[in-house]
Amino acid sequence: MEINQILFYAKDIIESENMQRNKEFIQHGDVSIYHHCVNVAILSLKISNKLHLKVNKKSLIRGALLHDYFLYDWHKSGKTHKMHGFTHAKTALKNASDEYELNKVEKDIIKKHMFPLNITPPRYKESIIVSISDKICAIKEIFD
Ligand SMILES: [Fe+2]
Ligand SMILES: [Fe+2]
Repeated sequence: MEINQILFYAKDIIESENMQRNKEFIQHGDVSIYHHCVNVAILSLKISNKLHLKVNKKSLIRGALLHDYFLYDWHKSGKTHKMHGFTHAKTALKNASDEYELNKVEKDIIKKHMFPLNITPPRYKESIIVSISDKICAIKEIFD
């Protein structure tokens, strides 16, 4: 089960105060940012298993969980996030780096997940998988 792997590699992130606070912020539809990020981590694991891709599971999971770590309610207007779609990946990377020791794969996952809106393409297969999973989850969350 994917959720067991997530807890194995990222219990500290799941249980952290900021991640728990993300349960109160809505991402799409009525899905919170917390649940959106867990959904993206689960789907990322499923895709890599299905395609038999050799990935760094720990980085895949931790990057997926932190990919939207911008820590504000983007539905409310605010000076810091006028261009949320364009800027939140960078904000998430900054917040996540302040709190966690991130490797280059995890940083790339967070920074590039908004490709192609943010034009620099993902560099690692883990980043590509999370970027695709993010879009699939967003569509499901909006239309379900
Ligand atoms: Fe995002
Ligand atoms: Fe996302």
